[in-house]
Amino acid sequence: MQERYTTTAIVFHWLIALLIVATFSLGLVMTDIPGLTPTKLKYFSWHKWAGVTILALAALRLLWRLNSRVPAYPSSMPPWQRSAASGLHGLLYLLMFAVPLSGYFYTLSAGVPVVYFGLLKLPVLIDANPALKPVLKEVHYWLNMSMLAAVALHVAAALKHQLIDRDGVLKRMLP
Ligand code: HEM
Repeated sequence: MQERYTTTAIVFHWLIALLIVATFSLGLVMTDIPGLTPTKLKYFSWHKWAGVTILALAALRLLWRLNSRVPAYPSSMPPWQRSAASGLHGLLYLLMFAVPLSGYFYTLSAGVPVVYFGLLKLPVLIDANPALKPVLKEVHYWLNMSMLAAVALHVAAALKHQLIDRDGVLKRMLP
């Protein structure tokens, strides 16, 4: 019987995964709405609040991760797969910060403050900057596409463990 992830790890994993899928999808839907309608503005706000929530959860998750042990890889896993898995997990941690931060700084560069749930004005760390705005918009887009590719690889690897290797790796992260 393999060691499982703790309940804390499982909650962080699936809560953040769910929020990322929802925020990513909303990002695509809202930017497709033509003009500047009230619905579009509402979706932009929801997107920003969800993105800031992901950033906060990612910070808590990283603190937790740096202070805990995680289950070892199965002994059947070759060294290159262990390195690939660790590298991909590191990249996913990096993107959990880089994606929301790029959206945050893009919003500030457009001269728009981020007001969390319409209640709490978050720090305005940079001034409005019309030259930087299109650059950060592209950065937010391409970091998102990198995250899409990394998540697709992560899901494919989990399915390979489940369906081909049948080594119980996926089950360790299931509630
Ligand atoms: C993990 C968190 C996030 C994900 C997965 C995400 C994803 C996306 C995606 C897929 C788009 C559409 C890009 C396009 O088609 O051009 C987008 C756009 C956008 N995001 Fe995010 N985002 C996140 C966090 C944030 C945060 C924290 C903010 C700001 C506080 C933000 C602000 C924006 C804005 C303003 C746009 C519209 C870009 C435009 O003007 O066209 N995002 N996001």
